[in-house]
Amino acid sequence: MTMDKKFYITTPLYYVNAEPHIGHSYTTIAADILARRMRRSLGAGRVWFLTGTDEHGQKIQRAAAQAGIEPQAFADGIARKFKDLWADLGISYDDFIRTTEERHKQFVRRVLEIVYQKGDIYQSTYEGWYCSPCESFWTEEQAVDKLCPDCRRPVEHIAEQNFFFRLSKYQDWLISYIEEHPDFVRPVIRRNEVLSFLRQNTLTDLCISRPKERLSWGIPLPFSPGHVTYVWFDALINYISAVGEFDADGVYRSKWWPADVQLMAKDILRQHAIYWPIMLRALGIEPPHSLLVHGWWLINDAKMSKSRGNVVAPLDMSKKYGVDVYRYFLVREVPFGLDGNFSEEAIVKRFNGDLANDLGNLVFRTLTMVEKYYNGNVPAVDIGAYRFDERGAEIVRLIGGIDGLMEQSLSPAQDANFSAALEQLWGLINMANKYVEETKPWNLAKESKDEQLRAFMRLLVEVIRTAGSLIEPFMPGTARSIKEQLGRDTIAKGAPLFPRIETDGKKRTEKK
Ligand code: ME8
Ligand code: MG
Repeated sequence: MTMDKKFYITTPLYYVNAEPHIGHSYTTIAADILARRMRRSLGAGRVWFLTGTDEHGQKIQRAAAQAGIEPQAFADGIARKFKDLWADLGISYDDFIRTTEERHKQFVRRVLEIVYQKGDIYQSTYEGWYCSPCESFWTEEQAVDKLCPDCRRPVEHIAEQNFFFRLSKYQDWLISYIEEHPDFVRPVIRRNEVLSFLRQNTLTDLCISRPKERLSWGIPLPFSPGHVTYVWFDALINYISAVGEFDADGVYRSKWWPADVQLMAKDILRQHAIYWPIMLRALGIEPPHSLLVHGWWLINDAKMSKSRGNVVAPLDMSKKYGVDVYRYFLVREVPFGLDGNFSEEAIVKRFNGDLANDLGNLVFRTLTMVEKYYNGNVPAVDIGAYRFDERGAEIVRLIGGIDGLMEQSLSPAQDANFSAALEQLWGLINMANKYVEETKPWNLAKESKDEQLRAFMRLLVEVIRTAGSLIEPFMPGTARSIKEQLGRDTIAKGAPLFPRIETDGKKRTEKK
């Protein structure tokens, strides 16, 4: 670790054609957990967490027209909803960039000029098939049955003068780059996907403009005001426009770039693993360290998406079960790279199991005993020096090692394995619960084994303190509550953290 270590993490910029759903909240919560985690290890000033909204293009122009308002006003309304949701979900972003902001538009114009002058953007005629909801061009062979191969909606035939970005020129460079940087695309299955695509296909240059008559909602090309910039070429640039600038010689300067982790789901892998590094290369800018690609939330095995209309509102879930429960559930339930089916039954199961029975129970029973045996004063015992039995000693060791274990699981090299990190933490929690059942502290109290009971209680309190602190990036409110209940030397027990949910929908207080 070098002295000047920093951590820059991004989410995709979400489209503002519709309201946020669980899928968007998933990526943003994952980014928030990693950002909070890194602020603990590096210090708050060394972490930058960027999110925002992608506001240009056909999709948004069309959604606004349908709503009967101007695209900017429409975008303002949805961007507000994203910001409000992130506030409700405790998202600790450092910057929220909107692609319609002047700072971004100016930067994009500069990028276009630099790349144009370099000769990597040229004018030509485009003829082929176009999927307007996906804003993607397809060849005759790709658009089988005149349907978009991505979304299966009908494509339209177009022929027009446009500007093209020389992707093809950089294909060999990109292949070697990915080969030499195993952490550039994670997990490895996505890396292999990109590599085999690049090896088996010849990249065609990317059409980066749209004639104004067809699409007016975009950033005009500085060298051809009759064209606006293709939304992907515009949007990807946010990751650098938000954190730096070009000097007079066109050299990019940034305190944060290259990004350490760029999160997204697999739907936008091609744009991030192919267009994006090539755009950066053309600008003489380093690629990001890691693109971390996660799976999809599905509803009955179909991808949750605005266009399919099967979306679940994050706020409904977080209101019903609690923000922390919702955050915990999303990253605990499904390994980060895989798809998962969303269901409320699964939330209730995690709630009653991991949260009520395991964590909630440990906190409540421990603090109840500290109240009962010691009037709420935590016994002053040095658990490192006390000679515990085998399980007690194992717990002491785990308290010391758990942070490092979790840190490793959450690294890009481990594909940010949130569920594994939480399983490790729950290993400690469950071991402590088991220790209570085996030790039977109530017998120690009856038999006046005072020294043993004091050490035992202190150990449990240290487990809770550790768990409460390590859970903070995942469940900030729960961490706060555990900290408050633990107080300094005198505890202040509150109500159970997670009163069990009965399957008929009622809640009751957990047993101790
Ligand atoms: O693609 N499961 O925006 P978008 C998991 N504007 N994650 C999901 C998901 C699901 N069912 N649905 C969406 C765009 N996501 C572009 C990005 S970046 C410069 C431009 C998440 O609103 C996931 O992160 O369609 C996915 O990659 C992203 O939302 C797509 O959001
Ligand atoms: Mg999408």
